[in-house]
Amino acid sequence: MAKDFARMEDSNPSANPTIHEVSDPKRRMLVQGGLAAAIAGLFGPLAGCATTGSSGNVSGLGRAIGFKSVPMAAVDTVVVPEGYSTQVLYRWGDPTGIAGAMPAFKTDGSNTAEEQALQAGMHHDGMAFFPIEGSNRGLLVLNHEYVDDGLLHADGMKTWTPEKVRKSMNAHGVSVIELQRDGAGKWTQLAPSRFARRVTALTPMTLTGPAAGHAMLRTAADPSGTQVLGTFNNCANGHTPWGTYLTCEENFADYFEGTDTPDAHQKRWGIKKGNGAKYRWHEHEARFDVSKHPNESNRYGWVVEIDPQDPTSTPRKRTALGRAAHEGAATALTNDGRAVIYMGEDSRFEYIYKFVSRDAVKPGGAAANRDLLDHGTLYVARFDVDGTGEWLPLVQGKGGLVADKGFVTQGDVLIKARQASDLLGATKMDRPEWTTVDPLTKEVYCTLTNNSNRGGAGQPFMDAANPRSNNTMGQIIRWKETGDLDATKFAWNHLVLAGDPKQTRYEAQGNIKGDTFGSPDGLMVDARGVLWIETDVSTSTLGKGEYANMPNNQMLACDPTKGEIRRFLLGPAGCEITGLTATPDLRTLFINIQHPGEPANERSDPDRPLAVSKWPDGAGRPRSATIAITKNDGGVIGT
Ligand code: FEO
Ligand code: CA
Ligand code: CA
Ligand code: CA
Repeated sequence: MAKDFARMEDSNPSANPTIHEVSDPKRRMLVQGGLAAAIAGLFGPLAGCATTGSSGNVSGLGRAIGFKSVPMAAVDTVVVPEGYSTQVLYRWGDPTGIAGAMPAFKTDGSNTAEEQALQAGMHHDGMAFFPIEGSNRGLLVLNHEYVDDGLLHADGMKTWTPEKVRKSMNAHGVSVIELQRDGAGKWTQLAPSRFARRVTALTPMTLTGPAAGHAMLRTAADPSGTQVLGTFNNCANGHTPWGTYLTCEENFADYFEGTDTPDAHQKRWGIKKGNGAKYRWHEHEARFDVSKHPNESNRYGWVVEIDPQDPTSTPRKRTALGRAAHEGAATALTNDGRAVIYMGEDSRFEYIYKFVSRDAVKPGGAAANRDLLDHGTLYVARFDVDGTGEWLPLVQGKGGLVADKGFVTQGDVLIKARQASDLLGATKMDRPEWTTVDPLTKEVYCTLTNNSNRGGAGQPFMDAANPRSNNTMGQIIRWKETGDLDATKFAWNHLVLAGDPKQTRYEAQGNIKGDTFGSPDGLMVDARGVLWIETDVSTSTLGKGEYANMPNNQMLACDPTKGEIRRFLLGPAGCEITGLTATPDLRTLFINIQHPGEPANERSDPDRPLAVSKWPDGAGRPRSATIAITKNDGGVIGT
């Protein structure tokens, strides 16, 4: 989500690190041009890379971008290039497809809490397609990050009741739906489907891994410290080679009403008095009142693994991956088959993490790899000024993570991953959002969406990886491991510092070849090596100030070998573009339109729900929805 209006988490007072120099020009290869030569020196040759078997026949197509750029404009629809079509699927309130329980959406927002638990939630975000019959039938699994209570209830928040809190909780979480493509390329949601499922903020799930059962995870309702109700603020995602979905708990602190006297741990995690004002769950669900239940918030901020093939399976919160305001979890494999998961923590001055599993992935799908993510090593990134970096192990007993610093067990390290990363001297980043691994080169990309506090009074100074003060536009950083993906050293540079050269006051702008953008968030390198970039400019900022020439959020395609970035899509008014997944044949791209019609203060007026946008129905209420994008000639998207 965009975070200008919401209480902006800003909880890292640590002093690390101050060793970096500012704006090392070697770090901005693409921006400065000369990419090919620079890449050859630092990242190894890209051209003519062998394609991997897992990419199928599309990986041989090359990265060339073939469509005509979409001009920026203030629109209230989805705009794609000539020769492409879009189809709206699975809007907020559409039935998920659970047999015998498919309540229709009521356009005035009057569906009950019970009905909402059987329908698409609000504010669609990260997403993955799991093929069943090649590219023609599959499961689409998607997050419902948060809610706009002004739209969710018929009269918004004019009254506030236990039923409304339950409806809000049921509009969060995850959906599993089944989709089928016909011969003409049109998609249909199969409903009912035996796979259909809603996971909500009330779904029972299990804490697993080294921190499970830890004293900080025990509550009055769960003395075992292993059984949790629900997941929420599920932002970006990952998916594993063994067929499971990873959903990431991001701004969980916003749901817990803190106290006037937070302890050091609560302060470091942004658990403060006033947090509850946004969602007001604590008024009717006591576990969100920190004064009554101080440990409940420690049970959120995890990566949750869900088996979409089994609607009766219990979601598992994987503590070995560490606790954070998790954005996403991009998964790849080492040469010997161990899982490597890259994770950004989207808060100002927080960190980038990597998990390497102890064991190799076994054949046999989810059942055979049920405990894979419970054993492994978590690292946090330090970016050094010379263009190298190091993964610092978050392992109890190493690097000063010892008992007298508060790290008695590995559970302490994982639950207090921020404090452990502070102690290790990790690099404080400009809000790390999505990560993605290029399947052809194994380069890893991460969006650093923006950080207007960078370089401000009393705030961390610029460094080589985060080189701009008052960074309103963001950047995309990338690295290549020194060796296999489990390496502890890497080389890094910036793919691009974002910004509009007509508007920006920053140095080193105007060299992006092609279209401009700001606040990059969603990110995916597809199987042929095209980097797709989605933006999340907050609705309080869209079309204003430095974003005057960017009235709408957008998606762009980048050929990283050429430094070319081209606008592919514009979204309707007041929306964020997010969620990004493709069929294996790359002939359908699914994205999510999140919060169309969101006003600048992020809460809609139930009496004027269409004030900003009429998308997608032209009437009723704006609705987050999934979009299927196809090429009219049936070709590969982006060619
Ligand atoms: Fe939910 Fe960091 O965006
Ligand atoms: Ca958003
Ligand atoms: Ca964002
Ligand atoms: Ca995001």
